[in-house]
Amino acid sequence: TLHFILSFVFAYLLGSIPFGYVLGRVFYHKNLLIEGSGNIGTTNTFRVLGPTAGFLTFVLDSLKGTAATLMGVIWGPLPVHWWLLIFGLAGIIGHTFSIWIGFRGGKAVATSFGMLIAYAPVLSLEALLIFLTLIFLTSMVSVASIFGFILVTILTLFMGDWFLFGLALILTIFVVYRHRGNIKRIRRGKESLVPFGLVYWS
Ligand code: G3P
Repeated sequence: TLHFILSFVFAYLLGSIPFGYVLGRVFYHKNLLIEGSGNIGTTNTFRVLGPTAGFLTFVLDSLKGTAATLMGVIWGPLPVHWWLLIFGLAGIIGHTFSIWIGFRGGKAVATSFGMLIAYAPVLSLEALLIFLTLIFLTSMVSVASIFGFILVTILTLFMGDWFLFGLALILTIFVVYRHRGNIKRIRRGKESLVPFGLVYWS
């Protein structure tokens, strides 16, 4: 049990490393918590620090989600997918409520994507394609994030994998919840656009 608690805390701490924030502070002398949307995720890192830092943040935030999830492979006696779920969620909670920045954090998109990589690599590739297509159509990462997760959840229904469906549903609900502020802005027509895609160009 102690071993489990320590591992769970480790997965949480892994998830709580705010890569975008650290990159901003160390290499750009900017504080993501007070610039742009105030978020530490990939989108705001792109917005405030530029594409290199944005891309790095996406990769690192995703991979920490994958790593936290894969910590679950060493456990018994429950079926392994339950352990993956538990440790993956610990990582996501770490990312969204990071102990290093006053329990603030990201919106769980990249870390959830990383969790999906560990579970269903092919589906995660499809998810990435859906996500990029939605950004291209709307120029809004928040819209792409929300509808990307909803569409992936619908896809799992067609796969007939009920565990994966449950997982995708939980991630979707959490991602939508974390985007409350964005949803308000979208409804007011005030959401910021990324300089890419049809809406931005029109
Ligand atoms: O992944 C976060 C994205 O969906 C929105 O980020 O910075 O525009 O609130 P932001």
